[in-house]
Amino acid sequence: MTTSTAQASPNIALIKYWGNRDHFLRIPSNSSLSMNLDGLVSRTQVSFDPGLEADRLTLNEQEIIGPALQRVSVLLERVRGMAGLKQFANVTSSNNFPIGTGIASSASAFAALTVAATAAAGLKLTTQELSRLARTASGSACRSIPAGFVEWQAGQDDADSYAFSIAPPDHWDLGDCIAITSETHKPVGSTEGHTLADSSPLQAARVATTPQRLAQCRRAVLERDFDALADVVELDANMMHAVMITSAPPLLYWQPATLAVMHAVQDWRSSGLPVCYTIDAGPNVHVLCPGEKVDLVAARLRQIPGVNDVLTAHPGGGAHCLPAC
Ligand code: PMV
Repeated sequence: MTTSTAQASPNIALIKYWGNRDHFLRIPSNSSLSMNLDGLVSRTQVSFDPGLEADRLTLNEQEIIGPALQRVSVLLERVRGMAGLKQFANVTSSNNFPIGTGIASSASAFAALTVAATAAAGLKLTTQELSRLARTASGSACRSIPAGFVEWQAGQDDADSYAFSIAPPDHWDLGDCIAITSETHKPVGSTEGHTLADSSPLQAARVATTPQRLAQCRRAVLERDFDALADVVELDANMMHAVMITSAPPLLYWQPATLAVMHAVQDWRSSGLPVCYTIDAGPNVHVLCPGEKVDLVAARLRQIPGVNDVLTAHPGGGAHCLPAC
């Protein structure tokens, strides 16, 4: 029996991934850029065991069956194929961030699973190969493999669609204050959401103009230019949500408290506080600010009616084995 444990953090996209050119391999319609979130962690142990008759998954101490187990097994099947292994695996995973808060855990979960499963199978893969493999399980998981500020080049096919670090975590202390506005599960998850993107008449315009926003965002990160970052991050999130709202069927993830936070952030920025928002496929709002403003921004967010909690994070490292593999 071979066992390995790995951990990974979720990431917040500054330039969003929405829609695939190839849904099976998760080759995205556009490139994206993100920051790993330090302090929020998924930890996963994988043991390939000759005594098992099927893969098993325990998540936050609960045995999981059905589609979630199936999704894990698909990734394990790829790993078994690469390693020439026949044994099934026992997968045990936990998150240190509160579950049910609507913080997407699939990126950190599948990045940790990819690193733990390949190590347990005896494979020695490069960061690029790990990123490509994680991408097939959850697109954004490919961005949780490298450290810090990360770009996912869309590429044309499996070989050239992977993420790489453009700057390490200590390059820029950018803070993320996550305003939790709802704890209910989202009605339509991102895997299904991606299949609806092309039904919006706005998706083609969004995809065609992403390279400009990506270049602006990359420059803002490399030059630590918060004002430039704020403009492009909000524009890009708004464009993704415009696509969501105009797809068939429409996806409207915002709740009243989501809008209250968006308005507050714009007011604060107009009065000189460096803040901006971005929102994923859910009602919670990620409020970005320079690291030294995190406590102030989190305290202000807690005052907004409908904000149930605020989690805070700074730039984080990449996925890795515990101890190092
Ligand atoms: O990786 P997925 O399939 O969970 O998609 C992530 C989609 C967004 O979070 C909305 C945007 C992004 O780039 O992370």
